[in-house]
Amino acid sequence: MRALILLVGGLFASLVFAKPAADLDPTTRGEISERIAPVGSVCLAGEECASAAGIAASTSSGPRSGDAIYGKFCVACHSSGLLGAPKKDDTAAWQAAEKKAGGFSSLLSNAINGIRSMPAKGTCMDCSDEEISASIEYMSGLKP
Ligand code: HEC
Repeated sequence: MRALILLVGGLFASLVFAKPAADLDPTTRGEISERIAPVGSVCLAGEECASAAGIAASTSSGPRSGDAIYGKFCVACHSSGLLGAPKKDDTAAWQAAEKKAGGFSSLLSNAINGIRSMPAKGTCMDCSDEEISASIEYMSGLKP
């Protein structure tokens, strides 16, 4: 009887302690901690993770300046006059374009929707209307 109890006890113990957590290989451990990790993580503005997500940088800093938009998007065509684009600071050309369009607001909507060789939003697809307006002001000297 005593032998039986020892045998059963031994079997039980070997079942329970057969695979202690410490024996898990590193890959399994990694997979487990990945699966039980909390969903999402907090990322503060200025942290590397925030800029990688590209969220904090563009949404929390408000509208970008006309200067910044021009330098990133419009400069490609509007500095050299590529494809007949009115050049930056060429007041006469910009005044003529404004007159032809029928005012600043029409000029702005042409820039937003695209006109002839001018691509919609000057390729700045995430630009707001006011950012496009500011960049037109910056390169033309025209006022809305
Ligand atoms: C791929 C070249 C290109 C880029 C990039 C570009 N433009 Fe233009 N843009 C043009 C060309 C070409 C015209 C002249 C179109 C015409 O009158 O035939 C033009 C014309 C315009 C006009 C005058 C529209 C009118 O009614 O005559 C505005 C305003 C303008 N661009 C704003 C912008 C702004 C703002 C940006 C940057 C956010 C930008 N463009 C980027 C090529 C470009």
